[in-house]
Amino acid sequence: DGDEFKYYIEGEWKKSASGKSVSIINPTTRKTQYKVQACTQEEVNKVMEIAKAAQKLWAKTPLWKRAELLHKAAAILKEHKAPIAECLVKEIAKPAKDAVTEVVRSGDLVSYTAEEGVRILGQGTYLVSDSFPGNERTKYCLSSKIPLGVVLAIPPFNYPVNLAVSKLAPALIAGNSIVLKPPTQGAVSALHMVHCFHLAGFPKGLINCVTGKGSEIGDFLTMHPGVNCISFTGGDTGIAISKKAGMIPLQMELGGKDACIVLEDADLDLVAANIIKGGFSYSGQRCTAVKVVLVMESVADDLVAKVNAKVAKLKVGPPEDDCDITAVVSESSANFIEGLVVDAKQKGATFCQEYKREGNLIWPLLLDHVRPDMRIAWEEPFGPVLPVIRITSAEEGIHHCNASNFGLQGCVFTKDINKAMLISDAMETGTVQINSAPARGPDHFPFQGIKDSGIGSQGITNSINMMVKVKSTVINLP
Ligand code: G3H
Repeated sequence: DGDEFKYYIEGEWKKSASGKSVSIINPTTRKTQYKVQACTQEEVNKVMEIAKAAQKLWAKTPLWKRAELLHKAAAILKEHKAPIAECLVKEIAKPAKDAVTEVVRSGDLVSYTAEEGVRILGQGTYLVSDSFPGNERTKYCLSSKIPLGVVLAIPPFNYPVNLAVSKLAPALIAGNSIVLKPPTQGAVSALHMVHCFHLAGFPKGLINCVTGKGSEIGDFLTMHPGVNCISFTGGDTGIAISKKAGMIPLQMELGGKDACIVLEDADLDLVAANIIKGGFSYSGQRCTAVKVVLVMESVADDLVAKVNAKVAKLKVGPPEDDCDITAVVSESSANFIEGLVVDAKQKGATFCQEYKREGNLIWPLLLDHVRPDMRIAWEEPFGPVLPVIRITSAEEGIHHCNASNFGLQGCVFTKDINKAMLISDAMETGTVQINSAPARGPDHFPFQGIKDSGIGSQGITNSINMMVKVKSTVINLP
């Protein structure tokens, strides 16, 4: 039951010496779909050693050659979109069309990174000493960007391909090597993606992929002395990692509770369409999903009616049929979502639809008249359930947004650009979208969270710059 996949080390596919595997449960059927190797700590040690050696040579490989290989990998990735998308459908229940989009977007990201990398990394700085008081022109400082070493990339289940390449490609163009630890749900999609890089002909040992239980190799990986940078996307684990990691650059994108503030003058059809897209696409399992609607009381009834009309049209069912709402990733996730729903019910929220669940499949639900004493007002369901809080002023909306421990993105809907700008400035989030739902892309835009939503800024340019350090050489004249 379930094909077994090998892990990737030194350009080869291998079985773990542990003789054990980890099962990947298909969220829709709840049966074992695939198995991956349960790698051991010894195997992690070996991978680190190999990655370190490969990086030394890669750093000496001309930048244009690194870019050429990335372009090749991008093209191969796009050619393999169908089998990779099929894995995404089976492993994480991503709707078929969205699964293909994820792979194509990933190919584009890799190509763009290659382009951006040759530009950014091809430039350095040149300083002369006599601009600083007391100095003659006797010192010339030449600075360039050099790689960090081994980058540990840990993507989440919801974009196992795209959020893997968004770490791999910047690391590689900048001259680093990679140890990838994919999420268990999504590991086979990630291994297929790695295979595309293998086919592109990257040097052996430069890209490695270990699989296994986070409980067995998670801390061992993140605290490993061979790691020179960690790029992580996921949940609370990121906070624990940042406390345990050494003195190395960290890039973390964690949870979010993205607020959607709706003012009285907003185009309510536009808002409703964005709430559906923002709140329910991939069944709400996006860090940038709209996770709380804060709407002015005077337009709330109209907006809720418009959203409800659209919720009724969402297709619920298997990802293979391209349904809008598919099973959430695991039973424990479904149970957590249910816990939030039950709490809101007990505390008097209005259910706009009947709550319905079969296995991991949860029907879309809008909860109106949510109040701050309900868990769902603050916690992140990562599922197709969306709370609506009615507000009487924009300040009340800003206050709710800023009282959250998260600060990823937020959005505001109004026709008044002045108000929108003031609200954007007041919202304590990494990004504010005006008149559109939150989203990470286009993938070259800066992407960052504040507070518990993360540290560092992503997006192609920022990621490349984060995965290098500055090296200076000073020429001293007598
Ligand atoms: O889940 C977290 C992702 O970074 C969100 O990306 O806005 O493209 O869905 P997205």
